[in-house]
Amino acid sequence: MTALVAVGAQWGDEGKGKIVDSLALSADLVVRFQGGNNAGHTLIVDGQKTVLHLVPSGILQQRAVNLIGPGVVVDPKVLVEEIEKVTAQGALRDPARVRVSGRAHVITPWHVALDKARDEARREGAIGTTGRGIGPSYEDKVARRGIRVADLLDAESLRAAVDRNAAEKNRELTQVHGWEPIDADALFEELLDLGQKLEAYVDHTGRILDQALRAGKNVLFEGAQGTFLDIDHGTYPYVTSSNCVAGAVCTGAGVGPTRIDQVLGITKAYTTRVGGGPFPTEDEGAGGQWLGEKGLEFGATTGRKRRCGWLDIVVLREAAIVNGFTSLALNKLDILSGLAEVPLACAWRIDGKLTYDFPMTLQELTRAEPIYEALPGWSEDISGVREYDRLPDNARRYVERVEALVEVPVDVISIGPDRDQTIYRRTIF
Ligand code: IMP
Repeated sequence: MTALVAVGAQWGDEGKGKIVDSLALSADLVVRFQGGNNAGHTLIVDGQKTVLHLVPSGILQQRAVNLIGPGVVVDPKVLVEEIEKVTAQGALRDPARVRVSGRAHVITPWHVALDKARDEARREGAIGTTGRGIGPSYEDKVARRGIRVADLLDAESLRAAVDRNAAEKNRELTQVHGWEPIDADALFEELLDLGQKLEAYVDHTGRILDQALRAGKNVLFEGAQGTFLDIDHGTYPYVTSSNCVAGAVCTGAGVGPTRIDQVLGITKAYTTRVGGGPFPTEDEGAGGQWLGEKGLEFGATTGRKRRCGWLDIVVLREAAIVNGFTSLALNKLDILSGLAEVPLACAWRIDGKLTYDFPMTLQELTRAEPIYEALPGWSEDISGVREYDRLPDNARRYVERVEALVEVPVDVISIGPDRDQTIYRRTIF
């Protein structure tokens, strides 16, 4: 039995969906524990592409049961659509394979509208949110006025919850932002209808998880976003509204820390970021453009162009600390093929001082200048390689330099988007 947490080590988009799908072959349960449909997990199996935003990435492996835990914020319309999509493509035949917690908070059209209106109002200081209503829904949860998935199944609770929110939400929309109000009666009917469609999937996910762990099953926790988008450990305020680090599994899924065995940090072989905020190794010149074009760096959720730059060891070391990584997965190594030299940031200079540690404040981070080591590149196409020893010497040198500097073994390497383009140096699950 293993309980493995897989989380992003950078700013999201590390390719978690691909790795989770590949690991899910051995999983009995795959569990989402935070975030919502701001995530976009891309899975490619036999050339067929599936993008998931809410349903866990274990859905394409027929065996795994997929849980959406209480720490996730659920847009019921998106969930219904996604369930219909995976059902239509034959991946979901039995509703028992998707279970959503009745305690998860709901994202309503009010949250979506307020997310967009508020980020627009921030002007130059915009966070560049995905506009999916994530932040406003988490705000309501913490303010204890949220609507939960279980409320969608009970007309009386739902009516009370909608009425509790209507006046305030519409006041902000109309008076602060000049937007149209959202009709509370129509919204109530829409949510009630979505609740009926979701009823067969709503469950006490904590119990299912506990029983699986007691029975010695393999449980895979699937993180969304990444360490530096974490509300506490990320580059605040340019972050998402949930905890994305491994520890969030405990609260977001309802499991004690003593039951987690391993933590896999997922990173690209370079770095990308979507939205605003500091990014020390960003390459705004030809190098970044080359990475973006070769790596097809456009958001799976919003289609936005991702900012691109080089791999940053200071970032990965900090991620290893806050998550307790036991392994690393290095994705998209194939994209680096063709460079004469591969830049790797090993330290930063902040105000003239050399540092190997992630600073405390955003202001210091904004002034960080990366110090690069240039590793020899390789020109071979490595996308067909399936054994570590068959990689070009310089590709292996790059991998081994990363693991030596981060002090965490690189146990998984991805050399292409397809499920089988994955090299396992050690069985971790
Ligand atoms: P929000 O999560 O929509 O509130 O967006 C807050 C910040 O997190 C923005 O910079 C988004 O671009 C970023 N973000 C949220 N989800 C993801 C993701 O899945 N991948 C990459 N960036 C994300």
